[in-house]
Amino acid sequence: MLVRVLYASRAVGPQTSTVTASILEVAQAHNRKNGITGILCQGQGLYLQVLEGNRSIVNQLYARILMDRRHKDVEMISFAEVAQRRCPDWSMAHVNLSDADPMIRMKHPEFDPYSATGAFVMTLVDELVSSGHRISLPPA
Ligand SMILES: Cc1cc2nc3c(=O)[nH]c(=O)nc-3n(C[C@H](O)[C@H](O)[C@H](O)COP(=O)(O)O)c2cc1C
Repeated sequence: MLVRVLYASRAVGPQTSTVTASILEVAQAHNRKNGITGILCQGQGLYLQVLEGNRSIVNQLYARILMDRRHKDVEMISFAEVAQRRCPDWSMAHVNLSDADPMIRMKHPEFDPYSATGAFVMTLVDELVSSGHRISLPPA
């Protein structure tokens, strides 16, 4: 059974490229092995992550992510059974938001994932991915 989870969290400490690299390195290797795909958006002190895969495996991963001390206030925004993946080719794509990302600040000036609906946050993630230049794909 294929599911998709979207959650938000707040970074503990600065979101440096070193922290990001260490998260992504483990995430991409583990996800590839376990058939998990997804997107990690980060910036402005926030993480937004989409995780897709087998329900039990996604649940196990989410339980580990909840305990990770590099972030806090992990809040599930949506959980859905899905017929197909949004991002079948990405063991974990990465979208980096600059501190004053124009997409978020101008189009969604009051964006707050903790009060927005799941549908809205998912649309925002889709916009960030399709805006292209922010995305860095994992190595093949
Ligand atoms: C924002 C964030 C996103 C993460 N995403 C993933 C992920 O997609 N896959 C993964 O295996 N670990 C991810 N992790 C790391 C896990 O929390 C955990 O450290 C890692 O899976 C190793 O777990 P282990 O030490 O119990 O083996 C993420 C951590 C953070 C802070």
